Amino acid sequence: MEFLDLPQLLSAAGIVRLPGSKSISNRVLLLAALAEGETEVCDLLASDDTERMLEALRALGIGVAHLGGENWRISGCAGRIPVRQAELFLGNAGTAFRPMTAALALAGGDYVLKGVARMHERPIGDLVDGLRQLGADIAYLGNEGYPPLHLRPGSIHSGGVLRVRGDVSSQFLTGLLMALPLTGEVATVEVVGELISKPYIEITLATMARFGVVVQREGWQRFTVPAGSRYRSPGTVYVEGDASSASYFLALGAIGGGPVRVEGVGGDSIQGDVKFAEALAQMGARIETGPNWMSARAPVGDLVAVDLDCNHIPDAAMTLATAALFAKGTTMLRNIASWRVKETDRIAAMATELRKLGAVVEEGADFIRVTPAILRPAAIDTYDDHRMAMCFSLAAFGTPLRINDPQCVAKTFPDYFDRFAAVTRAAPVIAIDGPSASGKGTVAARVAAALGYAYLDSGALYRLTALAARRAGVDWADEPAVAAIATGLEVTFSENDVCLQGVPVGDAIRTEEISAGASQVAALPAVRAALLFRQRAFNTAPGLVGDGRDMGSVVFPRAPLKVFLTATAEARAERRYKQLIEKGFSANLPALLLDLQQRDARDSGRSVAPLRQEADAKLLDTTSLTIEEAVDQVLRWSRESAL
Ligand code: DC
Repeated sequence: MEFLDLPQLLSAAGIVRLPGSKSISNRVLLLAALAEGETEVCDLLASDDTERMLEALRALGIGVAHLGGENWRISGCAGRIPVRQAELFLGNAGTAFRPMTAALALAGGDYVLKGVARMHERPIGDLVDGLRQLGADIAYLGNEGYPPLHLRPGSIHSGGVLRVRGDVSSQFLTGLLMALPLTGEVATVEVVGELISKPYIEITLATMARFGVVVQREGWQRFTVPAGSRYRSPGTVYVEGDASSASYFLALGAIGGGPVRVEGVGGDSIQGDVKFAEALAQMGARIETGPNWMSARAPVGDLVAVDLDCNHIPDAAMTLATAALFAKGTTMLRNIASWRVKETDRIAAMATELRKLGAVVEEGADFIRVTPAILRPAAIDTYDDHRMAMCFSLAAFGTPLRINDPQCVAKTFPDYFDRFAAVTRAAPVIAIDGPSASGKGTVAARVAAALGYAYLDSGALYRLTALAARRAGVDWADEPAVAAIATGLEVTFSENDVCLQGVPVGDAIRTEEISAGASQVAALPAVRAALLFRQRAFNTAPGLVGDGRDMGSVVFPRAPLKVFLTATAEARAERRYKQLIEKGFSANLPALLLDLQQRDARDSGRSVAPLRQEADAKLLDTTSLTIEEAVDQVLRWSRESAL
């Protein structure tokens, strides 16, 4: 399984430009084409569906100019499509095919509309029936009720009441409504059946209003387009980003200091989820909004828990559940029964994963109640649900954590974690690697103490694994069995000692026998994999100094400071010799030297995570340095790296 390990975060600030919403992109393009005047369309979503729409508009003689980036200029035709005869290919873009059918049927030309095979399996009969009530001349070129279509100039009349089904696809109603102003006469659409996807109709009505046509609405049953309605360019239109996606970044700003500013969704958004910002403000976040942006900063004091009915923001409310981990008190999210029937049972999934982190969670049929706690590292499952992955990224403010299957974010936000990394600052790591007895342990521990950072003696984990295996009677060469021991290792690091199953191990992991065993088990890939997250879980605030063999290459490849600390084998053997003699042990210098050389060869020669100096690691040769001099050098480098 793929996974992404997140270090604990220190802060968040920056600007995130959200990808545009597909639904809004294609609506805006069509209305800009039908409008009077030129429209600058900014932040258009770059996707297959918008490409098809742009191609179709060009084929119809509409002026389409790419202004660079995601910005386009559409020269509107004021309802008179320049090319009266054309064959259009619209791929599999439902958001292009349905509204384009309606507009061209009423515009009065000779057009053939086609798509990919799958598009020819998607029903369009209800829309065609609606258009025929207005006198449109539409023929099916394939199966009755499905594309491809042949549209010919009809004798369009209006003034009456049209009926269209609302329970199959809201795109039929959207298509009709967007096309009706082309008739210039009053027209009323009556929805037959329960209208589904109402938020999308809201987007349609809001986009039409932006282009000057205000539809009168009676509930969700009757929609009237007034006589004389005409689309007029509003000049510049920003395509909104996905408001639910904005929620993660606003929450990052609210928890991590901020300000985090999202661009692409503003205070006047037509998407319901924008109300998330109000919920965040209720938690104490300082929210600012502008026409095409919103920003969030942390409160002066703490974020506070809320008790909210979240029916109006079902998707974004998930973000509140993980933001609640950083709020004082118990947060109650009510009226969220719809979570149970989304990509996964989101109430159950959220409760299970929040509990893994240590939070206290109560769930009911339609609510979730979250009480924060001191978080502990955990591997979070994402249930093939993009929002689970994005929500749990926020928990990294409390603890390092692992996100399983992070690529599920591709559904709505393929580069989410890149954007996330760009606006967050992780607890820094100083990675110190080097051969046995180079003194890196002593240097690393002293640097950590000087900076107030945590210290990870990664070699101790391999030594503990070897010791635990020996005690369990497991052969050091038995990879699966040793890996199982590494996974289950019950280890705590205290100031002066390491405890295995609560019992201090003292020098038991420092014997020559266990040193040799550690070196042996460290060469087993399954053992290294089992210990990976355990090591990364040390990457907490305010920072970490880790020493070992692969700190800079494998465990913390993004460490802002990497040091390769070494000394000649002779110097190292001599230091070890002196240590042993001082402790009153007998020692043999040539034997120690040979042993070190053998261990060096094994640590450097193994196929997984061999000891080597990374290209971006600074070399610190301590052969002729005192410990103090070595520590001072690392601290100087850490200041230069602005840690
Ligand atoms: O640093 P040390 O001597 O305590 O390490 C004990 C053994 O564990 C050593 O043979 C190398 C191995 N080790 C490793 O492979 N990777 C690490 N990050 C740390 C130690």
